[in-house]
Amino acid sequence: MKSGEIRKRYLDFFEKRGHKVIPSSSLVPENDPTTLFTGSGMQPMVGYLLGEKHPYGTRLTNSQRCFRSVDIEEVGDNRHTTMFEMLGNWSLGDYFKDEQLDWIFTFLTDELGIDPERLYVTVFSGDKKNNLPRDTKSVDIWKTLFRKKGIEATDVEMGSEESASVCGMQEGRIFYYDSEKNWWSRAGKPEKMPAGEPGGPDSEIFFEFTDVEHDESFGKHCHPNCDCGRFLEIGNSVFMEYRKREDSSFEKLPQQNVDFGGGLERLVMVSENTSDIILTNHDSILEFLEKNSSFSYEDNDKKTSFRIIADHMKAAVFLIADGVKPSNTDQGYFVRRLIRRSVRHADTLGIKESVLSKISSPVALMYKDSYPDIENKIVDIEKTIKTEEVRFRETLNKGLKEFEKGNVDPFVLFTTYGFPFELTKELADEKGIEVSEEMFKEKLKEHQEMSRSGSEVKFKGGLGDTSDMSVKYHTATHLLNAALKQILGTGIYQKGSNITSERMRFDFSYPKKLTDEQKKEVEHLVNEKILADLLVSVEEMDLQEAYNVGATGVFGESYPDRVKVYTISDKSGEVFSREICGGPHVSMLSELGTFRIKKEESVASGVRRIKAVLN
Ligand code: ALA
Repeated sequence: MKSGEIRKRYLDFFEKRGHKVIPSSSLVPENDPTTLFTGSGMQPMVGYLLGEKHPYGTRLTNSQRCFRSVDIEEVGDNRHTTMFEMLGNWSLGDYFKDEQLDWIFTFLTDELGIDPERLYVTVFSGDKKNNLPRDTKSVDIWKTLFRKKGIEATDVEMGSEESASVCGMQEGRIFYYDSEKNWWSRAGKPEKMPAGEPGGPDSEIFFEFTDVEHDESFGKHCHPNCDCGRFLEIGNSVFMEYRKREDSSFEKLPQQNVDFGGGLERLVMVSENTSDIILTNHDSILEFLEKNSSFSYEDNDKKTSFRIIADHMKAAVFLIADGVKPSNTDQGYFVRRLIRRSVRHADTLGIKESVLSKISSPVALMYKDSYPDIENKIVDIEKTIKTEEVRFRETLNKGLKEFEKGNVDPFVLFTTYGFPFELTKELADEKGIEVSEEMFKEKLKEHQEMSRSGSEVKFKGGLGDTSDMSVKYHTATHLLNAALKQILGTGIYQKGSNITSERMRFDFSYPKKLTDEQKKEVEHLVNEKILADLLVSVEEMDLQEAYNVGATGVFGESYPDRVKVYTISDKSGEVFSREICGGPHVSMLSELGTFRIKKEESVASGVRRIKAVLN
């Protein structure tokens, strides 16, 4: 079965069980400055999982286009892609484990016809440290479901991935893994979650490709979470019923949710029993590449290049259709990196002409029914890719020559030839040469400071505009952040900020509209601290130390190993606010004047925005 057929069957299946089909959101999250890309179906749903009412009710389903930039380096193996579709179904405080596991098992076995003998499942073994219980309920459900298919499923304790590869599968079918593997939140395992973030235990389903032999370089014994390629994860039911508190403990959410996600392209692999994701889902792109190259996909030493181009160009087409243009920052940087990396690999396939933009057509054809937008925008998409491709081709050969001569300075290759750092690193790795990302970043920073670009880091690294007024507003965001936490309690975290010399804007997570009283209280607390003329101090420390002393950061932001921590405290040393931040800030709060909230509004589900002024 091809992806169109499986997508349709999945949505129909859940529609029949009371779900409303909702559209796929853009790959670029709307009004959510914390993440660059939509990487899972639940991302646009966070507010609803936390308790906000969804206009379409409590049972929802869709196929969400996703882009995972963290997987760029993994592309080239048999199962990773940056761009994929995630089939999803959600219960917003409606059904729970019984229905979810039954339905998804029925869908896979009865609807898609997958042999249940080839399916293996994992469950959460519990986490004593965080007081999170073992999921024995899911084990009972799984046993019943397998029994109905004539299979006696036994459960086995695996614990960590390491211990699993030592013990092996012991003829089990249901496997308990720890929170590294069977706990899901946007931030990962419990320890990594910021306060306010929802998460829960999950149960993953794996398909076994019996023709793939276990490869011992991945561990002595194979097991569902082994990376050798024998097992493929095809679905994940997250039982999202917890939220992390400010004191790092966990509380139950007001409702028990289900968040299921399954990779559509992986289901195509399974339904066709082919352990190569590129072969099953990118056929027309491979055909195009083979026509323009003297190599074939069957040539094993060229497979990686074919796979990288097929994935990256498909992703670039989708991202451009969602409005992203190649650039040196944010989302645009990834589109640039995808295209440039593809050009480099096209070069190794002997494709010397700028033809990659033409891949847009087979992609548009493939997605004609589900994403007609691509076909509608094809002229623009092709033009965008072509411009980037031609420009990079002009310098690629010169850059490669420099590289061959031994000039492997990623900074020079970036500024002179437009080689993204990762491209230089990839070329260097192939030759066993080491390059330092730290040094590259340092040089780039110096370069940017010199050219006064001021655009280094948008939110937390510091201010682009360092006029007196903007600096004051910057300090006021720290006060506001701390005041919101104090007044609204756990669950608040900063999602972004934007400052001009006229006003400040501050986005934070909160499921409801603030009452007038709450706004007054927040305003009052900030002004109280200003009047008390608290001191602002700064210290540089290791990132871990910053977390240890209770400094907060912005969710989704990645910080360097050494950071600055700004503390606002009174003369006795009592801390009101402590944040990781690049500054600059005022040193005395009395400089700020009076703080006024002008507006409080919703910008996305679960995200509120406050506009405020100082006068
Ligand atoms: N949100 C879950 C995942 O991405 C389903 O795996």
